[in-house]
Amino acid sequence: MNILLLGSGGREHALAWKLAQSRLLAGADDTLYAAPGNPGIAEHARCVDLDAGDHDAVMAFCKANAIGLVVIGPEAPLVDGLGDALRGASVPVFGPSRNAARLEGSKGFTKELCDRAGIPTARYIRCHSLEEAWGALARFDPPFVLKADGLAAGKGVVIAETREEAQHALDDMFGGKFGSAGSEVVIEQFLTGEEASFFAVTDGTAIVPLGTAQDHKRAGEGDTGPNTGGMGAYSPAPVLSEDLQREVMARIVEPTVRTLREEGMPYSGVLYAGLMLTAEGPSLIEYNARFGDPECQVLMMRLESDLGELMLSCAEGRLGEIEAPRLSDDTALTVVMAARGYPETPEKGGAIDLGTAAAADGAKVFHAGTRRGADGGLVANGGRVLNVTATGASVTEAQASAYAALDGIGFPTGFCRRDIGWREVERERGET
Ligand code: AMP
Ligand code: GLY
Repeated sequence: MNILLLGSGGREHALAWKLAQSRLLAGADDTLYAAPGNPGIAEHARCVDLDAGDHDAVMAFCKANAIGLVVIGPEAPLVDGLGDALRGASVPVFGPSRNAARLEGSKGFTKELCDRAGIPTARYIRCHSLEEAWGALARFDPPFVLKADGLAAGKGVVIAETREEAQHALDDMFGGKFGSAGSEVVIEQFLTGEEASFFAVTDGTAIVPLGTAQDHKRAGEGDTGPNTGGMGAYSPAPVLSEDLQREVMARIVEPTVRTLREEGMPYSGVLYAGLMLTAEGPSLIEYNARFGDPECQVLMMRLESDLGELMLSCAEGRLGEIEAPRLSDDTALTVVMAARGYPETPEKGGAIDLGTAAAADGAKVFHAGTRRGADGGLVANGGRVLNVTATGASVTEAQASAYAALDGIGFPTGFCRRDIGWREVERERGET
């Protein structure tokens, strides 16, 4: 069959790489299309110029090219209802409807769902005006957690140490800093613990776990500096033990899927739960309606099952009929190489020489913000540029392999953190 993958990041490169191995694409005429894609994705897919925001154009493309499955990588087209448009035209799609994607698109929606379904999450107040929000601060102790309700490209959460800082941040939010995403704000209790992510695929009824991961959100080593989309990740996250994973399924993921189904907005696609492992057990920080980036890259390195079949069975509502996805016991770890200045003002156009990294033993270099320059060479074209990914029997081993591959890359205007995986490396060191 023909498959269309939407997106252009490292997440989509990893999905394209894995989809290209699917039995669904084994026929001589089967084609994987990607829109818009990037030079890495182009190694596995035919990249086409198609705007995911133009639903008519996407549907016309699907019709003209007999697309049997559309995979939506990023959140914006999901929240914008592309999934609904495609389902309306009977095109199988991997990704939730607009209504169900509010799990990511509206913090307030998710908090209220947690109330209705009895899901553990931080105590909160939804605020619709600056006055209301300033008033609500009195009901919390510092640090204050302030969240713009809507999509804000991962920048909509402010943790303010003092009341003055919180008031300033609220002024900014209601003043339009995040556009309409900030016209409503959730203020919530600060939770302490270690963060980890849990992934599950669901067709609205059946739910299959798809592994765990830990991200590194801060730009600087030792988890310092500004927040980013993620500077590196590894999977599995041993801190989410089998027992904790069962608890997350039973107390968080299953009630979410059941409640959405019962309320007439069944969720279909991947559900990404951001968790805080508190002393009282796992608490939901947020949901995303898509794979994490760069968490997807490490999950795909470990996935042994056929990704195309998994996604198609999910899209067609028969996830309960297929074998549960298998993941390797190995650890996968990815290091993000970003352009100097990221996240504020990433430098574009810096030359990249992949050197020997691509050939390094077991390592994969996923492209995120890259493009081909006039001479055909690779140049930086975004904040996060490359994801150097490797596997190993432990986080320590996977980390060593990833950095060995990374050190073979020439990217003078790039930078990376040298400590991805540090928590787990420290724990592994303690055990030996
Ligand atoms: P989110 O976009 O909701 O994932 O929030 C971004 C980051 O803010 C999270 O990864 C956490 O590090 C932090 N955060 C969000 N909510 C809380 C909370 N209630 N308590 C402590 N930290 C939080
Ligand atoms: N890496 C965090 C995210 O994808 O939201």
